[in-house]
Amino acid sequence: MEFKDEIARRRTFGIISHPDAGKTTLTEKLLLFGGAIQEAGAVKSNKIKKSATSDFMEIERQRGISVATSVLAFIYQNKKINILDTPGHKDFAEDTFRTLTAVDSVIVVIDVAKGVEEQTEKLVEVCRMRNIPMIVFINKLDREGKDAFDLLDEVEQKLGLQVTPLSFPIGMGYDFQGIYNVFEKNINLFSGQSKQSIEDTIAIDDLNSPELEKLIGETAAESLRDNLELVEGVYPAFDKEAYLAGEQQPVFFGSALNNFGVRELLDCFIQIAPPPRAKAAEERVVESDEKKFSGFVFKIHANMDPKHRDRLAFIKIVSGTFERNTPYLHVRHDKKLKFSSPNAFFAEKKEIVDISYPGDIVGLHDTGNFKIGDTLTEGEKLNYKGIPSFSPEHFRYINNADPMKAKQLNKGIDQLMDEGVAQLFTLELNGRKVIGTVGALQYEVIQYRLEHEYGAKCTYENFPVHKACWVEDTGENPEEFAEFKRIKQKFLARDKAGQLVFLADSSFSLQMTQQKYPSVKLHFTSEFA
Ligand code: G4P
Repeated sequence: MEFKDEIARRRTFGIISHPDAGKTTLTEKLLLFGGAIQEAGAVKSNKIKKSATSDFMEIERQRGISVATSVLAFIYQNKKINILDTPGHKDFAEDTFRTLTAVDSVIVVIDVAKGVEEQTEKLVEVCRMRNIPMIVFINKLDREGKDAFDLLDEVEQKLGLQVTPLSFPIGMGYDFQGIYNVFEKNINLFSGQSKQSIEDTIAIDDLNSPELEKLIGETAAESLRDNLELVEGVYPAFDKEAYLAGEQQPVFFGSALNNFGVRELLDCFIQIAPPPRAKAAEERVVESDEKKFSGFVFKIHANMDPKHRDRLAFIKIVSGTFERNTPYLHVRHDKKLKFSSPNAFFAEKKEIVDISYPGDIVGLHDTGNFKIGDTLTEGEKLNYKGIPSFSPEHFRYINNADPMKAKQLNKGIDQLMDEGVAQLFTLELNGRKVIGTVGALQYEVIQYRLEHEYGAKCTYENFPVHKACWVEDTGENPEEFAEFKRIKQKFLARDKAGQLVFLADSSFSLQMTQQKYPSVKLHFTSEFA
């Protein structure tokens, strides 16, 4: 197959949702369609048991939270589908944000009864900022839930989306009869016993045909006709360009658990979802069909055997082909690296691959060369943008609890920060180390991993910080900047990249500081150039 065709057939996307909306169930059903797994339950059990291929930590097993972002790939109708799984738990939201830099589109799962939930709002906002094309899947139609129109309103208002329903439910919960597929103009009847099988659909060319009454009964037929008329009147027609530009979001209804409405979603998805897109580097925009390889690290994952401290760096290929045993430039280190066993992901397995294409994710074994955001190329000095750090929510001093193991502790902290587990700030005043995280859970993860992977012990101490702000010296007023540094010395720290950070202890002090030193710019993410 030609290089261009390989690119055109790839679909790399993420599924995002609030926990429990049905992301895992939907992922599993998609894999079933791809023939990548044989029975329902495979992915689910993976989530709980944490098989060796994706998750590694006992702590995860105990908690049943998917900390890791894994890749699930399969072929469907000759399309190579790469699903980047994202943790739904809010304490790992940063992990999800980073994964969103590697997707070309997104499917948003919403629970029909719960509607738009908090985590969905945050994640969709990130996608909206990046103009990522989104399809919405409203799940659990076999249960009583909100009225379809109310829900569409809620999606528009709370998520700021412009929706267009491409399918519409016939009844709901106890009365759920099936869905009308606006995109394909057919009806899929719900038998309630369709688990694991692929549905038959009935084409309805003319909605006014008496066939409809026969299929779903008089009342339902009438209400479906009314509803579709309303849909047509209220919502814009599907516009692929608008969808691709992130300006319009198609909506599907279904029940992932019953494998209902999933085929419709997938069939439409492979038709409309974008193949790998161009990506902006600091230097220039790189097109996916450029011949020379480039890619970036969006995730680092401690590997299966924690004793070996072996890590897997996940690279999204942006352009060209990535080949085994070929030297590539690690731009930040300005050195060439070769990989003898790059991993590709297929279904739930990973295997060594010789060649990978744009859109693909490869896992590279790493002993500490990579950190999140690193770029690999065939020689050009490119730095991919878009993996900023946000201000953490929690801050704690980290103390060494075993003086004999100071070296191990430092090395452990260093490597865990490169993985993006949390952020490290070193205070200017006394060199004390402060760990910032999005969720309190991370502190346990870090403690556990420091002990089990690095043989180091730590304790924490609270450090009250309201927000971390990255400081920009605009050069406008050197005196003011010097004064700011002197007066605020207690609250200043360096992040791991050496950037100056102001740790404001309250929103009031943040405000006062901004007023007092107008020439000192305070930013809420690490990327502001
Ligand atoms: P998540 O990954 O988004 O967290 O959600 P997950 O797929 O794990 O689904 C959360 C719960 O919702 C599961 O139930 C799952 O079976 C259920 N679910 C998913 N899709 C549907 C659907 O279409 N209809 C109905 N009625 N339920 C659905 P659970 O009780 O937490 O797990 P389990 O005991 O059923 O495995």
